[in-house]
Amino acid sequence: MRKSERKGESIVILDFGSQYTQLIARRIREERVFSVILSPKASLEEIRAEKPWGIILSGGPASVTDKGSPQLNADVMSLGVPVLGICYGLHLIARQAGGDVEKADQREYGHTVIEIGRDSVIFHETPREQRVWMSHGDRVKRLPDGFEVVATSRGGILAAFEDSSRGIFALQFHPEVYHTAYGADIIRNFLFHVCHCEPSWSSGSFVEREIAKIRETVGSERVLCAVSGGVDSSVMACLLDRAIGGQLVPVFVDNGLLRMHEVEEVKELLAQHLTAELVFADASEEFLKRLAGVSDAEEKRKIIGKCFIDVFEEQSRKQGPFAFLAQGTLYPDVIESRSTVGPSATIKSHHNVGGLPADLNFRLIEPLALLFKDEVREVGRYLGLPDRQVKRHPFPGPGLAVRIPGEIAREDLDLLRKVDRIFIDGLLREGLYDSVWQAFAVLLPVRSVGVMGDSRTYQRAVALRAVTSLDGMTADWAKLPYEFLQQVSAEIVNKVPGVNRIVYDISSKPPSTIEWE
Ligand code: XMP
Repeated sequence: MRKSERKGESIVILDFGSQYTQLIARRIREERVFSVILSPKASLEEIRAEKPWGIILSGGPASVTDKGSPQLNADVMSLGVPVLGICYGLHLIARQAGGDVEKADQREYGHTVIEIGRDSVIFHETPREQRVWMSHGDRVKRLPDGFEVVATSRGGILAAFEDSSRGIFALQFHPEVYHTAYGADIIRNFLFHVCHCEPSWSSGSFVEREIAKIRETVGSERVLCAVSGGVDSSVMACLLDRAIGGQLVPVFVDNGLLRMHEVEEVKELLAQHLTAELVFADASEEFLKRLAGVSDAEEKRKIIGKCFIDVFEEQSRKQGPFAFLAQGTLYPDVIESRSTVGPSATIKSHHNVGGLPADLNFRLIEPLALLFKDEVREVGRYLGLPDRQVKRHPFPGPGLAVRIPGEIAREDLDLLRKVDRIFIDGLLREGLYDSVWQAFAVLLPVRSVGVMGDSRTYQRAVALRAVTSLDGMTADWAKLPYEFLQQVSAEIVNKVPGVNRIVYDISSKPPSTIEWE
């Protein structure tokens, strides 16, 4: 089909439950093309309504040969737009077009080198041999009529086939993951050489669309949201404020576990960027009272989570009624692989605000739930949030409580605040802050002997931790310059009474975690 004959608006991704579906969407956004993820149950009319330039069938955990495995609900190959099937999607194409698929004995994953056997637009300007991330459970026994093999792996596995005259392409490997050396080129080839997409996705177009969606969903109802001053909740609140300003009630809870000057800074930031008036709840006494005498890490988290819910519920009663609750959940916050619209919907959310009760009578709005952190930062910039804010390091919901192993004493919180501030100010001053994912200090439940002037000291030890990471799921310790560590260490010991020893944490995740508790 020639470019001029079609007016598209999006790439439709049919989600068969792959853990990588959101990654496909992200790769498409990287090319500035708009995409929509639909359930495989979507009808032809629903798919057509999205004005697709092309359709991608995602991978999925099932085998197409299993009874009850998700099938294509609609004959997408009859729509006259290009189709790309990935992994499970490949087998669906093979089956639906009349080929035979059988179950392989074992499902395999991993690096494989494939060899391109013939010219194909999908591999345009990529090498004949290339490294891909393969996953295969089913095997195509007989190709459907009209299809040709394009690539095979060194081990003889069918890696790609196509019917280019109908614009139908199928890949056994995952072009959306980084391990596939030319994955981005392959996706680009599909978008621009096959589908002739016009790049129009941007933070701006995302914001405009979300504003329209939020207005439509919310109508004239009121929306409650919790803000913490972190990137995600700030961006979410700004977005909602733009959409339905007067109907939004942002609540900021001081849990007594925040960093130095954090309350004032967050209040000031939100006052500058929101038209909605901030509700501030100082619950620090309540949190610290409930935490008194508790040393077990999990117990502390539970108490903090429960206290947050109590405070938040009280505020929602006071300020209510509300029909909606907005949350700044991001895609990677969803810890377990989940399929947003597809069949494998085991959903476990990791809520920044510390976990809200399931029985609150709200409908949930999560406008950022499909974005990755760096995309949220871009959106924040578009909404006019200052650079310092959008680049802010993550800070855990339970705050400094997870950075003081054991019981939490008020004096210890004050001491840790001072140390943390010196470390962070140092990183900012030396231009190192943006080079790390997260940096903080941990107050250790340890005293050690030191000497200051002519006297022996017996004081606390602190650990400094700085990590590099892409998404917080894995992390490496940051190789901060020795001179910097030396400077900061001296400054902390000189300025914070009660501390005589500084150690630097050189553990990566795994096997450690980023936080100490
Ligand atoms: P870990 O310590 O598990 O942390 O390697 C990974 C990332 O998550 C943050 N973190 C939390 N964030 N509530 C949060 O909102 C929590 O309970 C929590 N625990 C850890 C942590 O700071 C890091 O960025």
